[in-house]
Amino acid sequence: MSTILAIESSCDDTSASVCRDGKILSNYIANQTVHEKYGGVIPELASRAHMQNIVPVVDVALREADVTLHDIDAIAFTEAPGLIGSLLVGSGFAKSLALALNKPLIAVHHMQAHVLANLISEQQPAFPFLCLTVSGGHTQIVIANRASDLKVIGETLDDAAGEAFDKSAKMLGLPYPGGPMIDKYAQEGDPMKFKFAEPQIAGLDFSFSGLKTSILYFLQKQMKENEHFIQENLVDLCASVQYTIINILLKKYKKAALQTGIKDLCIAGGVSANSGLRKGFEEMCKQNGWRSFIPAFEYCTDNAAMIAIAAYYKYSERDFSPLSVTASARANW
Ligand code: KG4
Ligand code: ZN
Repeated sequence: MSTILAIESSCDDTSASVCRDGKILSNYIANQTVHEKYGGVIPELASRAHMQNIVPVVDVALREADVTLHDIDAIAFTEAPGLIGSLLVGSGFAKSLALALNKPLIAVHHMQAHVLANLISEQQPAFPFLCLTVSGGHTQIVIANRASDLKVIGETLDDAAGEAFDKSAKMLGLPYPGGPMIDKYAQEGDPMKFKFAEPQIAGLDFSFSGLKTSILYFLQKQMKENEHFIQENLVDLCASVQYTIINILLKKYKKAALQTGIKDLCIAGGVSANSGLRKGFEEMCKQNGWRSFIPAFEYCTDNAAMIAIAAYYKYSERDFSPLSVTASARANW
């Protein structure tokens, strides 16, 4: 039996979750709205908001799970990667709690947790499985041999897929974070209306910086001829940008599946909430006879339940961290 309290604070969401024997009992997320007017996350404001949120968020997660701190066997937290100030709030809180309760501490890697979010639901992929993790800061193809043996086999050389969505949205005048807005407008648009350059990168790596430039130059040219071009074509622009990003992602993911021969495929990370990507991914798997897995919507974007499930596997291997463990902004794993 293990009851784990997990905390996630790597970016601009403060979240806490309670997991018992691999089952998520609660997953509470406080989104920070303070960044909206700046068009991106302001690190200092994010850490201040985490400090305000963390006690009430943990409190709600415990109450929703119907447990008290005395029922908790271990405290888990996001160790890396992320905004250092944000990570320090979560790690400091988790360490203090572990010390006060005299319970083991479990440090979890945020990107590994995104992959393991696929093990939350009852319908689970079998090891070894592949995962395409697409978030605001990362784009990776990972082989999961076991919960404790994850290997990156392809990743972006520059921007992440989420950044490509957010930066394109900014160019189209949409508010931050733009990914969900592009998704919404794309549903009414024609994905074939505009063509944008796709990168030619060898192997299983990705690149999105060329796409960003291609969109920028295209918009600048069109706006010179018609200053209302964006407003008049917004849904088609969103659909075309989304189509291009999804195409880049799925072409590489298909290549990885064919190369490895692995037939259980997952997606994870904030961009896996994208309706076009979910549909395209499921169709690709169906056509090739692969099984597709997508975490429930609330486990795609940043959440503490994925930290809790990753910690559950670490707990079963007694993979605990000393209180001296330090949070890190970088992504070594
Ligand atoms: O995993 P996540 O919540 O945070 C990071 O670890 O980065 O991912 C956030 C990213 C943002 O870039 C956001 O625009 C994108 O996920 N995102 C989406 C959608 N929902 C979130 N992108 C496209 N379509 C969506 N529906
Ligand atoms: Zn994330």
